[in-house]
Amino acid sequence: MGEPHGIGVIGLGVILDAYLTTLADHHGVRIAAVADLDPARAAAVADALPGTRACSVDELLGTDDVETVLDLTTPGAHAEIALACARSGKNHYGEKPLASTLDDARRVVQAAGAAGIGLGCAPDTVLGTGVQTARAIIDAGLIGTPTGAVATWVSPGHEAWHPNPDFYYLPGGGPLLDMGPYYLTSLVHLLGPVVAVTGSAGRLRDRRTIASGARAGEVVPVEVATHVAGTLEHATGAISTVTVSFDAAGTRARPIEVYGDEGAVAVPDPNTFAGDVELLRRGSTSWDLVAPRAGFVDSSRGLGLLEMVGSAGLGAAPETARASGAVGLHVMEIMTGLLEAASSGRRTAVTTAPARPDLVPLTERETWRWGI
Ligand SMILES: NC(=O)c1ccc[n+]([C@@H]2O[C@H](COP(=O)([O-])OP(=O)(O)OC[C@H]3O[C@@H](n4cnc5c(N)ncnc54)[C@H](O)[C@@H]3O)[C@@H](O)[C@H]2O)c1
Repeated sequence: MGEPHGIGVIGLGVILDAYLTTLADHHGVRIAAVADLDPARAAAVADALPGTRACSVDELLGTDDVETVLDLTTPGAHAEIALACARSGKNHYGEKPLASTLDDARRVVQAAGAAGIGLGCAPDTVLGTGVQTARAIIDAGLIGTPTGAVATWVSPGHEAWHPNPDFYYLPGGGPLLDMGPYYLTSLVHLLGPVVAVTGSAGRLRDRRTIASGARAGEVVPVEVATHVAGTLEHATGAISTVTVSFDAAGTRARPIEVYGDEGAVAVPDPNTFAGDVELLRRGSTSWDLVAPRAGFVDSSRGLGLLEMVGSAGLGAAPETARASGAVGLHVMEIMTGLLEAASSGRRTAVTTAPARPDLVPLTERETWRWGI
């Protein structure tokens, strides 16, 4: 194995630890540097990671031992960091959404292409055994011809637990741009790209009260739709319906069900990597548990970055990585198209058409951990 691939992390908030679980002691990568708007936060994170130094964002982008930037900033900063990476010749793998507007997302993809840098975008949860096993079932013809899917995610809102939930209620946030990427990226893997969308969107309240942390009791403004429903027309002719909400107490709906004329498959929470996949065959009334048959086993956030830098144990080159900027842009276009349809009352065509990402073969933990 050669030298570990140099990573620099920008944005060191709540989600950082999930990435460190995967990347901190992975053999294929080395976290060389970390940066945050809050230098004290960067210093504390660097102290806990042997061999990692804290620095400013500009220093991180200027250093030779960082080849790929992991961008865990809030959505409003994703485009700015990605464009800076393109200027600095660093690969960029960022949290979702790719940017907070479609125009910015397009600019990012264009700049990355022109600079010849790798561009990756979360979520990579869809590469785990949950979504990938469901995908393998569909590809094996076990539900017959896929006719569509129903995807549902609802909650009362992230201010219940997140100490700084402002960004969830600003452009780039809302239940669609925040949670939609898990569900819509799953649907692109399961049923292929989308060609048109329709939608409706609403907002129950104009303000939210932070419920935990140092700012508990503080009120934050709501500038986005907080309950969104939409219809997705896939290129295959399959039709998916999606509901996402920060305005609903709870649901018993399955995260995703995919229907076909010969069966149906229940897909576990796409915000996690694994979970029970169940198959219903036409004529039967029982949903049978399906053992994992595809996907990264026991994986966690960062797998998409590992795949992008060729360290996920599959020998994948950046151009075949599945959590790609192309899929991130497509999902962004689906989401913004849906919101546009909601405001115009008209069906919106989706112009980007990435290839449906390849199935992830069943890849044991030992394989992706060693990154050979
Ligand atoms: N919190 C979660 O459970 C969760 C889960 C999955 C994905 N995400 C995604 O991860 C991203 C970050 O979420 P979070 O919850 O960790 O947010 P957070 O607010 O806890 O942390 C974000 C960090 O980024 C830093 N930051 C913001 N702009 C910056 C800039 N321009 N330069 C340097 N640092 C900057 C902030 O100082 C902060 O430390 C979001 O895109 C979110 O959608 C979060």
